[in-house]
Amino acid sequence: MGKETKFISFFNQKGGVGKSTFEIIMATYCHNMLGLKVAILDSDFPQHNVLKLRENEIKLIQKSEVNQQIFARLGKPVFPVEGSEPASAVADLDNFLELEAGEEAFDIVFVDLPGTVNTPGVLSTIARLDHIFIPIVADQLVVTSSLEFGLVVAEKIIGQPNINLKSLHYFWNNVVKSEKSNLYGATEDTLKELDLPFLSHQIAQSVKFRKPEFRSTIFPMDRSLMKETNVVPLIHEILEIIGINVSSEIQTIE
Ligand SMILES: Nc1ncnc2c1ncn2[C@@H]1O[C@H](COP(=O)(O)OP(=O)(O)OP(=O)(O)O)[C@@H](O)[C@H]1O
Ligand SMILES: [Mg+2]
Repeated sequence: MGKETKFISFFNQKGGVGKSTFEIIMATYCHNMLGLKVAILDSDFPQHNVLKLRENEIKLIQKSEVNQQIFARLGKPVFPVEGSEPASAVADLDNFLELEAGEEAFDIVFVDLPGTVNTPGVLSTIARLDHIFIPIVADQLVVTSSLEFGLVVAEKIIGQPNINLKSLHYFWNNVVKSEKSNLYGATEDTLKELDLPFLSHQIAQSVKFRKPEFRSTIFPMDRSLMKETNVVPLIHEILEIIGINVSSEIQTIE
């Protein structure tokens, strides 16, 4: 049996918590460093932040010979970033499964969604995904709304007939180590009580996330940036959850 394409999304009803950032970082890492076949479906219409970022990056490469040489050194084409909108996202996801004879199936398709389930198509797209990952930040409003959302998904969507979605996992983003907020411990206790899983790795707040060389849909992250930010162990934790095996040799990139 051929491999099964995994559809995943970083989702939260709250804006600015890092959804698009992690889709971009993980897709670029999987494509360049792990050799996986990936794509991003940008359904966050009309913003289309990921698609616009890709278009700008292509323009920058076209404008400069140095950039063209750096790009050529990657030795492979870019992964697809396709524009979509929530109402057509389910059909667009199914298109990724249509392969020409001999063509390799995608390993992972990342879906960038608008931050509200009230937009028609968002909930049905979530139901069609395999797994969602919910970035949360230590802000009571974000935590409360994320927990409410997760409970509805866990109780009313996962495990229901004809629903593809298998899991949701929370993870902490924008963590400030020096901040002695008891919201972290209290939230984790609540998640455990409610049987809502969260990732063991968390991501610190860092200005590095705003650097173009970190948030690129084309170029792999600088190794020292990768090391400092904990994203690599987080990505490997996610790959294990979604059932994608990468060789131990590759994992030594960490
Ligand atoms: N750990 C972090 N430390 C510092 N900045 C971060 C971190 N994670 C994300 N950011 C920054 O926060 C901003 C918002 O991130 P991003 O656009 O990924 O959020 P989003 O959830 O997709 O937002 P939206 O709802 O608008 O689509 C970006 O400028 C990003 O670089
Ligand atoms: Mg976004």
